[in-house]
Amino acid sequence: MKTTKTAKTKSAKNQKDYTLSKPTIIVIFGATGDLCIRKLIPSFFNLYKKGMLPQNFRIVAFSRRPMTDEQYHDFIKEEQQKRKLTVLEGPEFKKFLKHVSYQEGLFDEPESYKNLKKKLIGMDTKEFKRCSNKLFYLAVPPDLYQTILKNLSYHGLTIACSDGEGWTRILIEKPFGRDDETAKKLDQMLSKLFREEQIFRIDHYLAKETLQNILMFRFSNMLFEPTWNKNFIEKIEIKIYEKIDVQGRGAFYDNIGALRDVGQNHILRMLALIAMENPHSLDSNAVRSERYKVMKSIQPIEGKDVDKYTIRGQYKDYRKEKSVDSNSQTETYFKIKAFINNARWKGVPFYLESGKAMKESKAEILVHLKESNAYLCPNEGGCDFKNVIAFKIQPEEGISIRFWAKKPGLVSTLEPRELSFLYNDAATNHKTVDAYERVLFDCIKGDQTFFTSTDEVLASWKFVTPIIESWKKSKLHFYDKGTFGPTTKL
Ligand code: BG6
Repeated sequence: MKTTKTAKTKSAKNQKDYTLSKPTIIVIFGATGDLCIRKLIPSFFNLYKKGMLPQNFRIVAFSRRPMTDEQYHDFIKEEQQKRKLTVLEGPEFKKFLKHVSYQEGLFDEPESYKNLKKKLIGMDTKEFKRCSNKLFYLAVPPDLYQTILKNLSYHGLTIACSDGEGWTRILIEKPFGRDDETAKKLDQMLSKLFREEQIFRIDHYLAKETLQNILMFRFSNMLFEPTWNKNFIEKIEIKIYEKIDVQGRGAFYDNIGALRDVGQNHILRMLALIAMENPHSLDSNAVRSERYKVMKSIQPIEGKDVDKYTIRGQYKDYRKEKSVDSNSQTETYFKIKAFINNARWKGVPFYLESGKAMKESKAEILVHLKESNAYLCPNEGGCDFKNVIAFKIQPEEGISIRFWAKKPGLVSTLEPRELSFLYNDAATNHKTVDAYERVLFDCIKGDQTFFTSTDEVLASWKFVTPIIESWKKSKLHFYDKGTFGPTTKL
């Protein structure tokens, strides 16, 4: 049966109304941390302004230091000032803060969870007069996940009131483990305590507008899909360059490195979206399952191949950063030439690259098409007329296509031109939504499409772990800050 436009609009509206009609409590563990101040509070506030939070919602900020609700509200302002962020204020923010309360507690102290439970039950019985939805956001270092999750479960905080009412969900940040073994352990622990539909593993890249659009762009335009394969595509580059260095995050970063920090997650999610098969629906299981199939099909790089297909680098003076080992072997840059073992992509190289302290900040996917063998080549000195499709993620979000056109005039020469658009566009009044707004909204809605599944996480580690292992014995290439990384080529 064909769904009419009106029916679709109605069902989207009904879904929004349904999602927002239920009372919902969001508990943030790590409420005094950077993520909460920088991203979560502003994103919740934006959703509130847009009317995209449940009518009855409460945010419970859980953290160690003793504070009253008012003191926590002041703390948010002070921290925003300290970090030179936009300071949220005004009557609307004050109204929003009425929904935000503070709960002092220690992550490993059972008493703290009893107090939290008391508070949540109090809200349900006194304020909402019904059982509310509960969302637990773990904005804490991963070594605290187990302690918090076990305590939540032990104190019965993760049990829904009934099948139809009061769901409970958890939101967790990357990294999910540090190799395939630790990821498996974390996964086993999670699956003992929660069902997969309760677990929302964040990869904020999946929530970025340009990345979401890859599927729409590829599968809704007849122009692209027929050429999206080894017969037409020469190579694909996926990169995240950052001008910033480790910016005082040395203690965290030195223990992680670039491949674990952005490779195992953001870059591989980009790879999955650009290479996956058509899921034929936007149902989260269909999309996640196709993304997973790509992860499974990446050709492993092991043993001697690691030096042939990968480069790891470190910017000079990295070892002088605060809290970084003076003999650190940690990579701040990597480049990998990967292949996908399936009929669509056999033989097409995917260059995966990322670095800190680079010449520019840029995140993008470049799809290079092969040369046309039937072109007219009026230019002297040969032609290499190739089309390049760029999915731009940073600094601006948009898509551009380089194509070849006749240069106006009496002489027949060709020149490269660009067809492009940006998401933030004054002419159309389009504005992108911050990835964290999307993450929070989708989790409340219960849509897992743009969250990583357990299968995806484990398959990504399976690819990355042997590379990290072999790197212990391979050469580290040093590069100057403000360049495009080591000069070595793959
Ligand atoms: C994070 C990494 O996941 O992604 C950071 O831990 C990195 O090191 C950041 O800077 C990049 O994200 P974005 O959205 O700024 O491109």
